[in-house]
Amino acid sequence: MQQRTIGTGDNQIRVSALCLGAMYFGTRVDEDTSRAVLDRFVEAGGTFIDTADNYNQWLRRSDGGESETLLGRWMADRRIRDDLTIATKGGAKTTVIGDAREENFEGLGAATIRRAAEDSLRRLGLDRIDLYYAHWDDRKPPLEETVGALGKLASDGLVGQIGCSNYATWRLERARRVAADLGVSGYTAIQQEYTYLWPRPGPAPVVGREMLDYLTVHSDIALLAYSPLLSGTYGRPERPLPANRGYAHPSAYARFQVLREVADEVSATPNQVALAWLLHHRPAVIPVFGASSVAQLDEALGALELTLDETLLARLDAG
Ligand SMILES: NC(=O)c1ccc[n+]([C@@H]2O[C@H](COP(=O)([O-])OP(=O)(O)OC[C@H]3O[C@@H](n4cnc5c(N)ncnc54)[C@H](OP(=O)(O)O)[C@@H]3O)[C@@H](O)[C@H]2O)c1
Repeated sequence: MQQRTIGTGDNQIRVSALCLGAMYFGTRVDEDTSRAVLDRFVEAGGTFIDTADNYNQWLRRSDGGESETLLGRWMADRRIRDDLTIATKGGAKTTVIGDAREENFEGLGAATIRRAAEDSLRRLGLDRIDLYYAHWDDRKPPLEETVGALGKLASDGLVGQIGCSNYATWRLERARRVAADLGVSGYTAIQQEYTYLWPRPGPAPVVGREMLDYLTVHSDIALLAYSPLLSGTYGRPERPLPANRGYAHPSAYARFQVLREVADEVSATPNQVALAWLLHHRPAVIPVFGASSVAQLDEALGALELTLDETLLARLDAG
């Protein structure tokens, strides 16, 4: 599989161009199916897997950790840990089971970060997490505390790269400055919701033009796009665009039509064109996609074979 890089210099890591999201593994996707999808991803050359300590707390009103635990068992059985890049996240676990309101997130205080990372290491069966994200932007603790605690994880060797997720551009910039002032490792990756369709502006810090402008200049920060298939919407023509996430507006329906037309023309599926569009994207994007079956995975992998020429890209961009 094609490769991408995260970070710079000696600390740089090479990852597969597609990152497999493990959010539903061990809960909505059963263990046998999850393992079959993981095996097939690796067989196809995939090396980059994404999880979080709270996957999937909200499905079963559990304490979370199901996805990390399953990945840990699978890696131990397959003995392929060294061939993989494992990303996980902390800070978005809820402390009140079954109630995912924001005020219940355990957050990004220094003690929580340390404990959460150690718990993730234990569940994954690792002595080092390759990429560790702040899962959301908890603004209660001072940024110095959060950035300092994440930097300490890196200097203690518990994590490699540090990233953030669901962040506003200005907070990413400020956090990097804080890291530089503190002399610790700063964010080298940002994971945001990003797909071919644009949502209406709303409170969620999805990728927008401002972030793309920032990342064009700061090409040392990797952009990871989560929910690139709009959580399955492109693959289900009967399903309306998700209104609760801001995608049900006339321009989005028009753009979706362009996606379908291009897919027909190149004999691909809308899912494949949506992923291929991200794979051709500038600044570079690493899609973090989900698959609930081997068939879905194989469809997604087909995007790697799809070349979109300048004319098609211009049409998609203008859509
Ligand atoms: N940082 C964050 O806050 C954050 C938030 C969300 C997700 N993520 C990460 O991003 C990953 C991907 O998220 P996502 O699941 O929302 O991504 P997605 O890639 O947009 O959607 C994947 C889902 O689409 C459906 N799908 C795939 N192929 C299909 C097909 N051919 N036909 C119909 N449906 C199809 C499947 O769901 P069905 O089971 O319905 O078939 C699959 O699980 C997660 O695993 C997680 O690692 C991160």
